[in-house]
Amino acid sequence: MAGIPEYIIDQVRERTDIAEVISKYIPLKKAGRNYRALCPFHHEKTPSFMVSPAKQIYHCFGCGAGGNVFNFLIKYERVEFPEAVRELAKNAGVTIPETSSAGAQKSSLTEKLHVLNKLVADFYCENLRKGQAQAVSKNYLVKRNINQNLIERFMLGYAPKSWNGLLDFLKKKGYDESVLQKSGLIIEGRNGKFFDRFRDKIMFPISDVKGRIKGFGSRALDNSMPKYMNSPDTFIYNKGNHLYGLNLSWEEIRDKNSVVVVEGYTDLLTPFQHGIKNIAASLGTALTLEQIRLLKRYTNNIVILFDSDQAGENATLRSLDLLVEEDVKVKVVQLPKGEDPDSFINKNGPDKFKELLNSAQDLFDYKLNLLLSRHNAADLEGKALVANEMLPLISKIKNAILQSGYLKRLAEILIIGEADLRRELAKVKPDYSYHYKPYGEPQAEPLKANMAEKILAGLMLEDRNFVRSVKENLNCGDFKDISIKRIVERLFEYYDMNVTIGVSKLIDCFKDEENVRASISELIATCENLVDKKKNLDDCIQWVKQCGLKDKLKNLCKEIKTAQNSGDESRVVDLVIKYNDMMKEVRT
Ligand code: CTP
Ligand code: MN
Repeated sequence: MAGIPEYIIDQVRERTDIAEVISKYIPLKKAGRNYRALCPFHHEKTPSFMVSPAKQIYHCFGCGAGGNVFNFLIKYERVEFPEAVRELAKNAGVTIPETSSAGAQKSSLTEKLHVLNKLVADFYCENLRKGQAQAVSKNYLVKRNINQNLIERFMLGYAPKSWNGLLDFLKKKGYDESVLQKSGLIIEGRNGKFFDRFRDKIMFPISDVKGRIKGFGSRALDNSMPKYMNSPDTFIYNKGNHLYGLNLSWEEIRDKNSVVVVEGYTDLLTPFQHGIKNIAASLGTALTLEQIRLLKRYTNNIVILFDSDQAGENATLRSLDLLVEEDVKVKVVQLPKGEDPDSFINKNGPDKFKELLNSAQDLFDYKLNLLLSRHNAADLEGKALVANEMLPLISKIKNAILQSGYLKRLAEILIIGEADLRRELAKVKPDYSYHYKPYGEPQAEPLKANMAEKILAGLMLEDRNFVRSVKENLNCGDFKDISIKRIVERLFEYYDMNVTIGVSKLIDCFKDEENVRASISELIATCENLVDKKKNLDDCIQWVKQCGLKDKLKNLCKEIKTAQNSGDESRVVDLVIKYNDMMKEVRT
């Protein structure tokens, strides 16, 4: 277990409350003994995500995600098991004993890549500081009004012009090429030789909220193409999951309770330099669900400030619907044509920029104005086009009074009947397809087990005495669902060893079996509210037994037929006797 002793993991588990941990990430609402929330792992409008403090598990009935507090962190923070344990150990006040160098070597790939990226960022920084490179790259940054203070805070750097500057540096540090390739920083050429991905570039390290460097962005020093080049997606980096600068701005975002979202690196750096520090950059894309959820940890007020060009407008439009669905309060700032935040400040100064921020429009007005500039609302066709694009947005507004108000305004502006608009609104179908993106790991398959198996396993998870009753009546083989069978096997084993094991710990027995983990949380959630558990248990034992019997009877029938066909009469007689005995046990 990557060096962390089992008893330490148990201590962390015992001193951690899953509800407390999860509530740091998403708002939880009390519902009886449990908590409910909108699932953070898939897009939904009504909560199907539950957290049970009693059992220390979470489960989503919508997407099937489930597990204990470690699994939650692994999935939400995209870390590996040891890292999740370490993180929680810190909060729980549990000290993890320093492991030997052998233990250190076992550190996860995630940790290895984080360490490597930090080393690389330092290398690029050092390159910017020193020698002849400074003349060119520093000059470039000076030209763009990016000062020394900013360079240091954001760890901006310079990738040398040579094909193997970084490669040689890292080899000297003892890295081998296979790890380096996983970082996306080193590429293998057709001739099998490795070389640096980034050459003669200004480097922007991209961190997660905690400041761990996930990947790099880079810009050419002149107008050569491509202007920007980024790290590819790696084991630890996925472009749409991060916002540039958030590691340095989240506190300000939380304190100001608002965030300005821009597109590019310099669009973040320049305002930041002038004191606008509640800011994050989407890195040239429309906001993804992951990015919105990340921002929602700190604020519900988002000001979109994308470039004033066709690409920026389209990115804004694409972001709006999703933001509204996620129940975020959105405003949009429009820059003069052709400008981006960086160029605007450099031309007009920071005060004008602050004025501009204050002129942010309501999302409805923004979208409408944009559409009115694109279509001719004087003719009928234009009206229909504008209405068609406004209605999906209006349909997503949850507050009925607001929705109605917007509809009325749209009718007035387009000079059309409100009743007609309302009829069109009713035709708008919800469309979630464009942003639902499951994470890398496969989602748990929906459980196929019949209800009786689920209830039995769920009850066994609740109470050791139930394990005994089931064990006296059934075998593991009687359970057909593969995940449930795995769970029952374990429970029987622990029962035989006279060990009582908590659900949260049991989940860790299935580290590599996501289906089984999700099964456990589902079973717990399913059985929680059963009344008269003993009667349910007895009924379900009978049910599973009967199912097993019926299967056996079917098989016997087949065997009898085979025996008949081959003329083996004595075998036929034996089998029929067996069949008759078994029939007596079958309830009609
Ligand atoms: N971007 C990218 N890859 C590209 C183009 C753009 O990742 N091929 C991202 C970068 O993060 C960039 C942002 O999209 O900062 C905005 O792109 P653009 O407006 O073209 O760049 P600017 O930030 O305006 O670049 P500059 O001011 O340096 O010319
Ligand atoms: Mn720019």
